[in-house]
Amino acid sequence: MERQLAVCLAGHVDHGKSSLLGRLLHELDLLPDGKVAALEAASAHRGVPLEWSFALDSFQLERDQAITLDTTRVRVRTPRREFIIIDAPGHRELVRNLVTGAADTTAALLVVDAESGAEAQTRAHAALLRLLGIRDFIVAVNKMDLLQWDEARFGARRDEIAAALARLGVVVHAIVPVSARDAGNLVAPAAATWYAGPTLVSALEALPAQPPAPVDAPLRLPVQDVYRSGTRRTIAGRLVQGTLRAGDEVLVMPSGERVHVALLDGWPAPFESAEAGDNVSLTFAEPVIAERGDLLCAPHQPARLTPIFDADVFWLGHEPLAVGRRLELRVGARAVEARVAAVLHALDVDRLAPRAATEIPPNGLGRVTLRCAVAVAVDDAADCIGTGRFVLADGGVIFGGGVIDASRYPDQLRARTPISHNLTAVSHNISAAERGVRSGHSGAIVWLTGLSGAGKSTLAMALERALFDRGWSAYTIDGDNVRTGLNSDLGFSPKDRQENIRRVGEVAALFAEAGLVCITAFISPFRDDRRQARTAAGGRRFVEVYVRSDLATCEHRDPKGLYRKARAGEIKGMTGIDSPYEPPENPDLVIDTEHGGEAACIGELVAYVVENCRA
Ligand code: ADX
Repeated sequence: MERQLAVCLAGHVDHGKSSLLGRLLHELDLLPDGKVAALEAASAHRGVPLEWSFALDSFQLERDQAITLDTTRVRVRTPRREFIIIDAPGHRELVRNLVTGAADTTAALLVVDAESGAEAQTRAHAALLRLLGIRDFIVAVNKMDLLQWDEARFGARRDEIAAALARLGVVVHAIVPVSARDAGNLVAPAAATWYAGPTLVSALEALPAQPPAPVDAPLRLPVQDVYRSGTRRTIAGRLVQGTLRAGDEVLVMPSGERVHVALLDGWPAPFESAEAGDNVSLTFAEPVIAERGDLLCAPHQPARLTPIFDADVFWLGHEPLAVGRRLELRVGARAVEARVAAVLHALDVDRLAPRAATEIPPNGLGRVTLRCAVAVAVDDAADCIGTGRFVLADGGVIFGGGVIDASRYPDQLRARTPISHNLTAVSHNISAAERGVRSGHSGAIVWLTGLSGAGKSTLAMALERALFDRGWSAYTIDGDNVRTGLNSDLGFSPKDRQENIRRVGEVAALFAEAGLVCITAFISPFRDDRRQARTAAGGRRFVEVYVRSDLATCEHRDPKGLYRKARAGEIKGMTGIDSPYEPPENPDLVIDTEHGGEAACIGELVAYVVENCRA
């Protein structure tokens, strides 16, 4: 038989989704004997109409022990198929279920009130479902009895809902007019003759099958727990992707160490292999340590290691989500502190399209840049949803969730690991102090960072000239110049920019060691890469200068005509337009070229360098 299909029930609380589910169970003859009689007696006693949603609580308690406090999971067997309907009362519970993977599903049943239609909350709900990977929708337009099953009014609702959902990019398999009260179009067609589409049950039965577990994709195994007994450490977790066999080599992230899997514990005998969806416990063959929160990956197709990424988020906090907000980010079994570094846009729930914004409103969606306190192993949600979605929490309470898109940022894993071994450094016979005595200044790196057009090259060349005129040894390495030589193999992808800055950082360190003042003029948009350049400089003087000018000013200057081309779509990945720039948090010096005149800016920079680099 086909795999059970999990379907997320969604919609505004007042639109009757629980009643609909209760009535559906009754029509399918799935309620326990006597249940309806009891409900009828109770409602007659209180003089109110029969409330079908009450059928649900007891159904769940009596028939299914797998109750969770905030979410109802109901097994529904139709003549042709079996479903688990997941009914989460509100956004928060829905986020928790979807983001934690408790509900791995791609299908949703959206309940909309025929009278009020898809209001903001319903549209937000649909957008949230889409965000979390749900693509297959069925819409039940409920309470048609209140509209006397009016064809024209249903038609208007249907068109409006179809248009809204189309903007989200989901597949709407059916929009069914129903009534939980008179059971119309749930299992049997309603009395109204004009509707020619499927009943709700046949629409559900026609939904595409649950996609198969991703067993052929690269391994992703978040470490949930590590149990120690003596010296033995047993690692437990659930494979979110891929296949694992005893003897396989895995990469432990974030440490980057490789290790072989010795044993997949199982009962009565050890498992030979496990695949996506399986819970496993295993030990390592070599003495490599993995901790809770680490991620085991396929060595040649690891996750991305980065402290920064963009994310589409759903925000449930009472205050808007704005830049600077600190939260706990949980991805897989990992929890780290994260900070909102930028709000890129909010989702306009009426149009279901992005709008410019500086914050995400409560119950709103939008795109932000998050920076974590440490680098985290993640995937783009488009590649692996299990390691590409996260929860945002504060004080143990969930305040939101989201999905990751790290494609605009470089991978920190690659940059860390030298491939050669057996190397022994040789020391020079001339000390830095001796070089300083001869030249009158120390070797140093003056690292200029800023947007294209901010004036880095102009300042760099002027500084070089001024230092030379004082008798100092100085040399400028400029972005456009080295990109035709040393770095002619590099473009402007995040990875190439990272490598560009890595090489320049190393070369600058050599120049400084040789006793020169090495000035670098590179956009160097990523904070982590600049930090790496500082690290490469070792103990040598490293002056980070933020050449600050806002995007509008740089774009207005447009000395190379690149912004115009970027706006026209002729070049992709232009910093500031469709590729990020991270301003320094604690630069040694800020030169404001937006407001300051050229001569004044040069004067300020020269004075600072002379003061700080004289011997
Ligand atoms: S970095 O990002 O890797 O540090 P770098 O400073 O070397 O960039 O090169 C930036 C220069 O390359 C710009 O001043 C500009 O002349 C040119 N350039 C060409 N394409 C781009 C692009 N997509 N984004 C930024 N600069 C670009």
